[in-house]
Amino acid sequence: MTYRICLIEGDGIGHEVVPAGRRLLEATGLPLTFVPAEAGWDVFQRTGLALPAETLEAVREADATLFGAVSSPLHAVEGYRSPIIELRRTLDLYANLRPAQSHPVPGSREGIDLLIVRENTEGLYVGRERREGDTAVAERIITRRGSERIARAAFRLAHMRRGHVTIVHKANVLRTTCGLFREAALAVAADFPDVHVEEMLVDVAAMRLITEPERFDVLVTTNLFGDILSDEAAALVGGLGLAPSGNIGEGRAAIFEPVHGSAPDIAGRGIANPLATFLAVAMLLDHLGEAEVAMRVRYAVGHTLRSRVVTPDLGGEATTHKVTEAVIAALG
Ligand code: NAI
Ligand code: MG
Repeated sequence: MTYRICLIEGDGIGHEVVPAGRRLLEATGLPLTFVPAEAGWDVFQRTGLALPAETLEAVREADATLFGAVSSPLHAVEGYRSPIIELRRTLDLYANLRPAQSHPVPGSREGIDLLIVRENTEGLYVGRERREGDTAVAERIITRRGSERIARAAFRLAHMRRGHVTIVHKANVLRTTCGLFREAALAVAADFPDVHVEEMLVDVAAMRLITEPERFDVLVTTNLFGDILSDEAAALVGGLGLAPSGNIGEGRAAIFEPVHGSAPDIAGRGIANPLATFLAVAMLLDHLGEAEVAMRVRYAVGHTLRSRVVTPDLGGEATTHKVTEAVIAALG
């Protein structure tokens, strides 16, 4: 059997890290076919579409997709919506998995092994914003179904890990929306008697991630909170250059990507750190059921970090190419 992998470079350093990810995938020796597809700001400027229909189809039909990053303007542009947000929603990839594990680099704290399970399709990211004169309004959509299924995903994952879930919310202030999320998540907890559950307000969680990150196993939370907490968690273990993520739903389609963006400040210089993408490749391999190959990839990344073959963001002088070569060599 051959796995069909869709590759979306996107913009900026996506053009550097995704080809590196493809080389790593090729080096695993697995039977793979690659389907390149376009999305993002560049293709939008060329064609008026940020997410061409062929791309959506290619992601739908692939066994998994590796996504780089796209650039999004800070101001609203008629007709443009971030294609990764569109993909997550259209394909109902409701679970955004963002692991943070200690790495052997100077900037990483020790003893951290946590997983943020972020709701990926609703919350404040539904795009229902409007201006009423000098007042701006955003709608925050929380549903019982959306909350239950993300909680279920978190409890299942915790069951395979250290068996501990922290439900993160702000139900003391956002009584209706976070209140429903909390209620639904706690109801799901009852189905997992062997998983220890606690709840924590998001501001307290932000603080305790800094003061005692080792205490966390799985954190489950709504879209915006998860977005912010996962960047914070990434900073504890070496930064965005090492942070992978996965977007998963009930179906076969799934998208794996580095957490970082298109990094226009370093794009085109050949110094982007490909390791976040490589760790995303490891998650992709796990999704395909190739756990052993995934483990080899993680080992090779760890070995390369310990050898100090690293890009400037991690204090080294290696290029994207050199790091890629080192990881592929360590894979053998
Ligand atoms: P960013 O993640 O692109 O960059 C933040 C900083 O980290 C920059 O200094 C960058 O050089 C550095 N950095 C990021 N990834 C790196 C890597 N692999 N190796 C070395 N250094 C790295 O975030 P920023 O600057 O806020 O956003 C730039 C663009 O990316 C924006 O248009 C934004 O909308 C987009 N973005 C896209 C995301 C996605 O496609 N999922 C996620 C986050 C931002
Ligand atoms: Mg983010």
